[in-house]
Amino acid sequence: MFVVQESIRNSIHQLKHAQTISDKELRVLLEQSNAATDDMLFSEADQVRRERYGTAVYLRGLIEFTNYCKNNCYYCGIRQRNTRAVRYRFEREEILSCCEEGYTLGFHTFVLQGGEDPFYTDKEICEIVSAIRERFPDCAITLSIGEKPRESYAAYFRAGANRYLLRHETADASHYSKLHPAEMHLSNRKRCLFDLKELGYQVGSGFMVGSPFQTTDCLIADLRFLQELDPDMIGIGPYLTHADTPFSQYPNGSLALTLRLIAVLRLMFPHALIPATTALGTIHPNGRELGLKAGANVVMPNLSPVRVRKWYSLYDNKICTGEESAQCRGCLENRIRSVGYEAVTDIGDVKRS
Ligand code: 5AD
Ligand code: FES
Repeated sequence: MFVVQESIRNSIHQLKHAQTISDKELRVLLEQSNAATDDMLFSEADQVRRERYGTAVYLRGLIEFTNYCKNNCYYCGIRQRNTRAVRYRFEREEILSCCEEGYTLGFHTFVLQGGEDPFYTDKEICEIVSAIRERFPDCAITLSIGEKPRESYAAYFRAGANRYLLRHETADASHYSKLHPAEMHLSNRKRCLFDLKELGYQVGSGFMVGSPFQTTDCLIADLRFLQELDPDMIGIGPYLTHADTPFSQYPNGSLALTLRLIAVLRLMFPHALIPATTALGTIHPNGRELGLKAGANVVMPNLSPVRVRKWYSLYDNKICTGEESAQCRGCLENRIRSVGYEAVTDIGDVKRS
């Protein structure tokens, strides 16, 4: 026991100071940590985050503008074949008015997230992006609309988009094929991510923790892939069950393992923008606060009108979807303050050095 603890402490130390760790050490760290080593891991991660970003927590205004999706990921509640999902999509003006409201609240980043919805042609996306760019020249525009050809990404970038979120979900090809139908390929996901980077986007990737069939080897592959990609943002959250998906019988991922991975990510990628995600807030009432204490430095309050929020249902029991959530900004600010950090509204670009 003592020997394991001692070796975990050494691994954390080395990860913190040199950003290196062997697969073997990672396995021990992920599988055998306990309360004492977790405390050390979280406090080292917090220290690294404070050195780079102080106590700042960046707010991103999330606009879930369509829950139509042409894909059928087995884990996702808005998959096309879920006929029980109530579908909605926003007109351009509705998206703009969400941004308007967000801007009034002080937001300087808008994240346009949606299913892969063919209703929005490239031309339409470009027009939406240019309209936002024109009205809010001092804001970052983040897109999160899935896998597209390189030329489409290039067109969105020219229209004024500057960031893109696309989780790789799992970097293990065989695991990927267990989470997705045959027409989806890890190789295309990776192609998208490298294209986005080359085109000049600030890129975010990430994965779910505890998705069905995930092993420690998969997680190690995720971390190694992220080292290769070297993204600006890394979003992770626990896998959460949705009753109307083929994975309805699989249990939720683990809060403890997600927190441990957030801390490992902070130590491996000191510069990264790491959100305390909605999934983390869903699995535990204080999940996002715990995420911040483990090294996360971003939160993404929902700017969509409350009437549609319950329909953007990737998993069951998602938080911030009821009437009480109209004021996510205030609620989150208090939560952030309660754990010793400070919500900031600046554009929040990555700090690579
Ligand atoms: N549980 C947790 N996260 C999920 N996502 C999709 N479905 C689920 C689920 N059931 C995540 C995916 C996707 C992001 C937008 O939400 O990682 O990339
Ligand atoms: Fe829409 Fe996976 S179900 S991208």
